[in-house]
Amino acid sequence: MNPQDLIQKKRDSGRFLPAEIVAFINGVTDKTWADYQISALMMAMFINGLHQSEQNALTEAMLNSGEVLDFSELDASVADKHSTGGVGDKTSLLIAPIAAACGVFVPMISGRGLGHTGGTLDKLESIPNYNVNLSTTEFKKIIKKCGFAMMGQTAEIAPADHKLYALRDATATVESIPLIVASIMSKKLAEGLDALVLDVKTGSGAFMQSEREARKLAKALVKTGNAFNVKTEAVISDMNQPLGKYVGNALEVFECLTILQNETDKQTKQTLDLSIELAARILVLTKTASSSQKAKQKIKDVLASGEALEKFKENILLQGGNPKICDMPELLLDKNLLEVKIKSPESGFILEIDASEIGKAVSLIGGGRIQVDDKIDYAVGYSCDKKLGDKIKEHESLGTLFCRSETQAAKVLAKLQMAYKISLEKPVRKYELVKEIIS
Ligand code: URA
Repeated sequence: MNPQDLIQKKRDSGRFLPAEIVAFINGVTDKTWADYQISALMMAMFINGLHQSEQNALTEAMLNSGEVLDFSELDASVADKHSTGGVGDKTSLLIAPIAAACGVFVPMISGRGLGHTGGTLDKLESIPNYNVNLSTTEFKKIIKKCGFAMMGQTAEIAPADHKLYALRDATATVESIPLIVASIMSKKLAEGLDALVLDVKTGSGAFMQSEREARKLAKALVKTGNAFNVKTEAVISDMNQPLGKYVGNALEVFECLTILQNETDKQTKQTLDLSIELAARILVLTKTASSSQKAKQKIKDVLASGEALEKFKENILLQGGNPKICDMPELLLDKNLLEVKIKSPESGFILEIDASEIGKAVSLIGGGRIQVDDKIDYAVGYSCDKKLGDKIKEHESLGTLFCRSETQAAKVLAKLQMAYKISLEKPVRKYELVKEIIS
């Protein structure tokens, strides 16, 4: 099967047989296809789409391009949560210890932040010495000991995706639902899961800004997961403002640890609420709880008893970090940062927040990456002092920037102020954190 014939077939809207898709992915991994041929076929897929049978075949071929973990020797369910990315999106740090405390094993393979969105690995690396570069043997050992482990993508997991994603990034073929689904699901299915919950974000800080597109992606992800016998559900959640209180790596871990210590306030409660919702779906899908209501009660119990915090402590110790931060989260904070208030130019109510602008501002002061290999300043970030619908007075603080210098602050001040739209009238639309559950 030569590349030209396959490119022509999809260019002319043909439907591939599974063997043809396998030939394509083999060509990617054994490097017999040139980058321009791979890119041409992906552009044809982008334009003409994939039938579900092709979607499944592509996902399977990408999954089988590398190692697939097997946890069948464990006498418990294995599940994970994956988010399509957002600003201040830190729920993984709560869901993994909560699910583990409820008896579910969680092998969490996470990514790094890029552009305005953060990544779980960067947040974890703000914990001094926390090691996310584990071998799969170490990964499995830690999961067996404490119920969960978190690490980065290895070269052995879905290597075809690594190559395809880099080419898609360079050839304007990222925003294709079938290609996104194969990319996400090939990596998630390689974790050897019984159940998967997807948090598909929609809104100003999300990859899929419109609810319609988010729903389409969520449905496609769920359909594909279930086709591989992994019980899959998606939660469509709001990303029209940063999630919770903080944006920035160490600050986000700090937020999660205070939640695990049962200290929530109005802002951090949003992080807790979404984490409970997502963790509850995991407990129901794995039959650890018989209903969503019972799952939520179980989660509240492991939070109140400190078992979830204890799980995080065990995990931090096993992954090389300092577990003392679980008792003293303030150890994560850098006392030398400058705190600059972002003042409201007028009185009124917060009508809109451009979450992506807040994410970009934090990246610009070093808290995220503009280029893939940029170094990160884990300490810097932003605190959301006011959220959607809140009343605000002129000169009152919309948020606080934690940065290194006045020059740095000057670079992003206007950007942050302009991220907010203030209205004189109280907004009538009710804010919904969870918009829909797709099962
Ligand atoms: N995240 C992924 O892992 N892959 C995509 O294609 C898009 C987002």
